[in-house]
Amino acid sequence: MKLTGHTVLITGGGTGLGSGLAAAFHERGNKVIVTGRREKVIRDFADKYPGMETIVSDVAQEGDVQSLFQQISERHPQLDVLVNNAGIMQWPDFTKPETLNDGLFDEIEINLKGVIRMTAVFLPLLTRQNEAALINISSGLAYMPLAISPIYCSTKAAVHSFSMALRHQLRKSSVRVLEVAPPGVESDLGKTDGVADRDFPRMKLDDFVKETMRALESGKPEMPIGQSKMLRFISRFAPSLAFGILNPAKG
Ligand SMILES: NC(=O)c1ccc[n+]([C@@H]2O[C@H](COP(=O)([O-])OP(=O)(O)OC[C@H]3O[C@@H](n4cnc5c(N)ncnc54)[C@H](OP(=O)(O)O)[C@@H]3O)[C@@H](O)[C@H]2O)c1
Repeated sequence: MKLTGHTVLITGGGTGLGSGLAAAFHERGNKVIVTGRREKVIRDFADKYPGMETIVSDVAQEGDVQSLFQQISERHPQLDVLVNNAGIMQWPDFTKPETLNDGLFDEIEINLKGVIRMTAVFLPLLTRQNEAALINISSGLAYMPLAISPIYCSTKAAVHSFSMALRHQLRKSSVRVLEVAPPGVESDLGKTDGVADRDFPRMKLDDFVKETMRALESGKPEMPIGQSKMLRFISRFAPSLAFGILNPAKG
């Protein structure tokens, strides 16, 4: 896809990967709107980029998504790029079922149902454009799970599968369905339970953004970034090896 002249809506665009992509689209002259649940976070981010807009919205809440659609339809009927980026990562330990809590299904609500809900609600607007793109942010962990985050990986595998199926369904429409599968990247992802950082390599955010923008420009529908390329390759040809590398058995 060309990277200029669009109106781009990025869910969860106030921090991390979403903020990096938002800044990159903004710097290329696109109109960018970012969402998130914390008003201060998205405001503080957008304050750095005059003209960027923010809307508080939770992808897990049907009412929020409907209201977001109303606002965008009225103010930005030309919306032609939706980036389904919002996501969370948790570490539920099924060896200790007593620790599993009310938030057990949150990753499904946000990472999977949030993507499906946003897609279903916004497709009528996207299909109205001559050309549009739906960009789903999955993960290298869509190809092979990290056992300490089992539900997260399940949601990302589902987003990968959903993206493939949707691409086929929409092949005769004006909407291109794209998938970006990031590797570990520096961000706040997974730091929700007081643990400062989990032990996996993280790419610099700037490097991720540069490679992703290049990949988007290249026109490929599925874009594994950085180490996700290797993970996708090994998980196809040597799945046990890939699983073992990600999940070394200790004890
Ligand atoms: N960082 C990595 O290593 C990595 C690797 C592979 C894939 N990814 C994917 O990249 C995406 C972005 O993650 P990140 O690493 O940038 O993490 P992040 O810095 O924690 O950013 C996630 C963003 O999503 C927003 N968000 C969370 N739940 C939301 C909801 N229900 N509705 C709307 N916004 C919501 C958060 O803001 P609020 O809390 O204010 O809503 C936050 O701004 C995720 O889909 C993640 O799975 C990341």
